[in-house]
Amino acid sequence: MKTATPSRLLSAPLSIPLALALLTAANGSQAQEAPTFYEDALPVFMKNCVACHQPEGPDVGGISAPMSLMDYDQARIWAPLIKNALATGYMPPWGAHERHRGEFKAERYIDKDEKELLIAWVDGGALEGDPAAAADEQGLLSSIVGAGMPESGWWIGEPDLVVEFERPVHVPDEVEDWQPTIQMHYPEGAHSNPRWISKAELDPGGPWVHHIVSSHMGVGVPGRGPFTYPEGWGVLLPEDPFITVNMHYHKDTGEGTGVYDSTRAGFEFYDDGDVIDYVVETNLLPHRGWTIPAGDPDYRVDNTHEIEEDIYLLSMGPHMHYRGKAMRYELEYPDGERETLLWVPKYDFNWQFLYEYKEPKFIPAGSTMHMSWWFDNSEANRWNPDPTADVEYGPATTDEMANARIYYAPATPRGIVVGRDMPQDVLEKARAAEQLRRERADLLDLTEDDFGWLTEDSP
Ligand code: HEC
Repeated sequence: MKTATPSRLLSAPLSIPLALALLTAANGSQAQEAPTFYEDALPVFMKNCVACHQPEGPDVGGISAPMSLMDYDQARIWAPLIKNALATGYMPPWGAHERHRGEFKAERYIDKDEKELLIAWVDGGALEGDPAAAADEQGLLSSIVGAGMPESGWWIGEPDLVVEFERPVHVPDEVEDWQPTIQMHYPEGAHSNPRWISKAELDPGGPWVHHIVSSHMGVGVPGRGPFTYPEGWGVLLPEDPFITVNMHYHKDTGEGTGVYDSTRAGFEFYDDGDVIDYVVETNLLPHRGWTIPAGDPDYRVDNTHEIEEDIYLLSMGPHMHYRGKAMRYELEYPDGERETLLWVPKYDFNWQFLYEYKEPKFIPAGSTMHMSWWFDNSEANRWNPDPTADVEYGPATTDEMANARIYYAPATPRGIVVGRDMPQDVLEKARAAEQLRRERADLLDLTEDDFGWLTEDSP
């Protein structure tokens, strides 16, 4: 995601004392010095928030921001919630601890000074100020709005191939939770040879799409952007007439709540002559066999995973349900040295991020991954579906999970030339994954949740 930094903030960063002074001024007699929307808050919103909070806010994996923060009237109405969202760290949405700043793609951190300034603006009465002061921001404004959803409607640009349901899927009024397995068809003749995916994007039909899983597109969940693989990294899409996806719908019930879902998926492929060195593999790393006692506010489970060959780690995707509280991936190198790969201190089920390295990380054979999950099964956890229940690993959202998905590739480059080589091992694996999904489709179990079936990819 592109962000621009207002030059004013760069050249003269607001210090905390200054922000505090502004705050004091707001409460004191010099109210005219309280920060205003156009002079002070807008540039900060532009830098940190407007990528999502703009008119017709772009779809972020199925959810859109509820208001535009470029608009004074809306920002003023939302001011108390803005303060709250900033103070709690709920916005901007991002789970990785500050210590990881600079490590992952599309990270979202707001500088402390900027946060203080916005809070001072709210406390000072969310004043408007002089719209003319925003004139400088006009250029910036267009550059950021331009960084929102592209005109094509796809973050990845105009896809080489789009797949859709044959007809919209009806999710009736009475349905609250439904997990059908459905086929998405390729347009006639559009995909007659296996091709290497460089980018994949799921375009959920609406906020009722809880998540989507397929073997070739990854997992689409709220808060997750498209998959854009690094150069030379790819996933093979076999030449089937369709792709099988597991949908998970979740919505309110009652008259008029029924919807027609037209979720789509788009792909961009590598061109002939491009070289694929790293074939993306995934492992869910699920951990079962524990019971979280009823009411326990801080229950921890641990697991380990041995790295058997040299790999490049591309990304990590922690997964728990509503009692999930925090999660950590730690690496123990063969020499015993330890490194925290990912620390998510405030896990939020509603935002399931995939933490993707800016540069895939080399992990030597013989290393051990230590994963830890923390759960809050007390009634203080406002998301807790039932604090009186002992909870185990299970598919329903009222059960729990302790997964630590990783995407990675063996470190030895494969040197596959697109259009010339078609490694049989990769092709067979890709076909088998799709086949398995289809067979399971016959055994459709509507209470089944989540990505448990993906474990067939596990080594
Ligand atoms: C990645 C996109 C994204 C960014 C960046 C972002 N937001 Fe949001 N925001 C959302 C979405 C989506 C929602 C609605 C869903 C929700 O409330 O969880 C939301 C909701 C909110 C809410 C309502 C919360 C509530 O309690 O109902 C506030 C306030 C808010 N954002 C403020 C901000 C501020 C201030 C920033 C910048 C510092 C920001 N957001 C950055 C996507 C974003």
